[in-house]
Amino acid sequence: MNKATVTLTDNRSGQSYEYDIMDGTRGPSVVDLRSFFADTGMFTYDPGYTSTASCSSQITFIDGAKGELRYRGIPIEKLATEHSYLETCYLLLNGELPSKEALQDFDLELRHRAYIHENLRLLFDAFPNNAHPMATLSATITALASFHKEHLTLDNDADYHTMASRLLAKMPTIAAFAYRHSLGIPFIQPDIDLSFTKNFLTMMRAYPGGKMHLGPNGHEEIKEVEVRALDTIFTLHADHEQNASTTVVRGVASTGAHPYVAISSGIAALWGRAHGGANESVIAQLEMIGSVENVEKYIARAKDPDDDFRLMGFGHRVYKNFDPRAKILKTLQDELKEELQLDSRLMEIAGKIEEIALRDEYFVSRNLYPNIDFYTGIILTALQIPKNMFTPIFVIGRTVGWITQWIEFKKDPQSKIARPRQLYTGA
Ligand code: SDX
Repeated sequence: MNKATVTLTDNRSGQSYEYDIMDGTRGPSVVDLRSFFADTGMFTYDPGYTSTASCSSQITFIDGAKGELRYRGIPIEKLATEHSYLETCYLLLNGELPSKEALQDFDLELRHRAYIHENLRLLFDAFPNNAHPMATLSATITALASFHKEHLTLDNDADYHTMASRLLAKMPTIAAFAYRHSLGIPFIQPDIDLSFTKNFLTMMRAYPGGKMHLGPNGHEEIKEVEVRALDTIFTLHADHEQNASTTVVRGVASTGAHPYVAISSGIAALWGRAHGGANESVIAQLEMIGSVENVEKYIARAKDPDDDFRLMGFGHRVYKNFDPRAKILKTLQDELKEELQLDSRLMEIAGKIEEIALRDEYFVSRNLYPNIDFYTGIILTALQIPKNMFTPIFVIGRTVGWITQWIEFKKDPQSKIARPRQLYTGA
C-alpha cells in the first residue's frame, strides 16, 4: 500500500514537494516536515507551536475535543478514583501499574530517599524568609545536581530508576522545607513510617518536635480524607503531554545537561501564571472579586479586548471542552464540602463565574472552559495549604511526568538538540 502523503506547491515557482503523513495510535496524524528547509529553503512558521508536534511520545494522551486524558492508555478517571499517586508514578515510569510487591518496594524506596543532605538544607538559610517557595524549590533542585553528579551519565534502566526515585522522594521534602523557611520555623524531617502524601502534609503542618496541632480534644491528627484529597490532586497533575514546562524540560535534556537542572528549569517555567502559577492566581482572583455581586463586572473585564484582565483557571491550548481533571476536582470539591468545611463563599463566587462564563458567547465561541487550576485552590485552602504553596503542590505532582518525559527523550534515537529557526525582520 503506497504511503499517505501531502503535496505542497510553491505557487511562485509551481514547484511541488511531497511529505509523508505519520499516524499515531490515537489522535491527529502528523506531516513529517523534517526535510522541509532542505527541500524548499524556507522554514515553517508556528510561534507557540499551535500546530506543531515536537516529538513522538507513548506517555500521555489528551483528546482536547472530547475532554479526555490518559496516562499510558489508562483514563485519568480510573487512576484518580481507583489508584494512588504512587501507583500512577510507577505506571508513568514503567508503562504498567505495579504489582502489590512492586508497589511496596517502590513505596519503601521513596520513604528511604526522602531525606536530603544536611549541606543542601543549609542552602535555605541563604533565602530571605519572604522568598516565594517556587524560587527556593527551583534553586534547591538545581543544587541537588551537585550532590548526584553520577546522574550525568545514565546508561542502564537501574540508574534511570535511581535518578528518578531520588528526585520524586526529595521533592516533597524540599517543598515542605521551602514553606517552613518562608514562615521562619524549624523544618520537620521526613517520617519513614508515613505514606508519601501523609508525610508531606506532616512536614508542612507539624509543630517543631513533630507533634500535630493540640486542640481541646487532643492532637488534631491529619485526617485520611485530607490525605486522599491531596493524593488525588497529585495524580491529576502527574503529566500532560508537551505542555510549556515539559517542552522546557525536553529542551534542556537535548543539550545534555544534568537531569535535575532540566527539572529545575521545568519548575521555573511552571511558575508563570499562564501555566502552573494560575492555581495561586485563581484564589487571589476569587478573593479580589470578593462577592457574587461583583462577578458580572469581572466577566466583562475578561471579555474586554482592551483590558488585559483574564479569568484565571479558564481556557486551555488543548482542551476545547471541559478539562477532565477539572471535572474530577469539581466532584471531589462537592464530596469534601462538609468534611473539610470548604470555603463556601469562594465556592459560591467560583460557581457564579462558571455559570455565567459557560453560557456567555465570548467564552463559548472561544471554547473557554474551567481548567484544572480553577478548582484546586479551594480544596488546597481547606487542607491548610497557603496560596504560595499551590504551585509547589503542582510541582510535586508533575515531577514524575517531567522525569518520565526526560527519560523518554534520552532513550529516543531520533532526539536532537532543540534549535528552532526564525523569520528575521530586523535591520
Ligand atoms: C495549565 O498546556 C497544558 O497542558 C497546561 C496544563 C498542564 O497540566 O500542564 O494544563 C496546566 O497551565 C492550565 C492553564 C492555566 N492557565 C490559566 O488558567 C491562565 C488563563 N488562561 C489563559 O491565559 C489561556 O487560556 C491559556 C494560556 C491557558 C491558553 O492560551 P492559548 O491557547 O494561547 O489561547 P489564547 O491566549 O490564544 O486565547 C484564545 C482567545 C483569545 O481571545 P481572541 O484574541 O481570540 O479575541 O481566548 C481568549 C484570548 O484573549 N482567552 C481568554 C482566556 N483564555 C483565553 N479570555 C479571558 N480569560 C481567559 N482565561
